[in-house]
Amino acid sequence: MLRALFLIALIPALAYGNVARVCTGNRPFPTSVDVVGCTSPPCDLVRGQDVIAFIDFTTDRAVSSMTTIATATALGVVTNYPLGSNSVTCNFLQGSSCPLSANEDVTYRLTMPILSIYPLVSLSIEINVVDENQSSVACFVVDAQVVVASK
Ligand SMILES: *[C@@H]1O[C@H](CO)[C@@H](O)[C@H](O)[C@H]1NC(C)=O
Repeated sequence: MLRALFLIALIPALAYGNVARVCTGNRPFPTSVDVVGCTSPPCDLVRGQDVIAFIDFTTDRAVSSMTTIATATALGVVTNYPLGSNSVTCNFLQGSSCPLSANEDVTYRLTMPILSIYPLVSLSIEINVVDENQSSVACFVVDAQVVVASK
């Protein structure tokens, strides 16, 4: 009995080996989010290093181009998190390319540079991948903290 309960408790953890939370507004949640080096939130964002995430999602419609919008919320302040050229989602698809048709399973590799000037705060980061009409294709939130590199 106990063993059965234990297994039941464990199943969601395995199925969502996932450190991500859903976004507001019913925006589509990806199939999986793997933040490299992070097994449970808050994920450490090491100053001066890149955070890499692999995001699997399925398109619910045909899209011709996509943009990744990152938004950071720290101490109640919401700011745009600049991704520069990393925001061109279609340039970082693994094994597929834009345009995408509906019901396509794609893996997207996101790179987020963590600048050395960032303050050492806890924050949540929303990653929203939008189509050419600014409508969400995949969205998730990760709780994180900015840390200094260990020597
Ligand atoms: C974007 O909007 C145009 C015009 O309304 C429409 O034809 C197109 O299908 C839309 N694209 C997506 C991905 O929804």
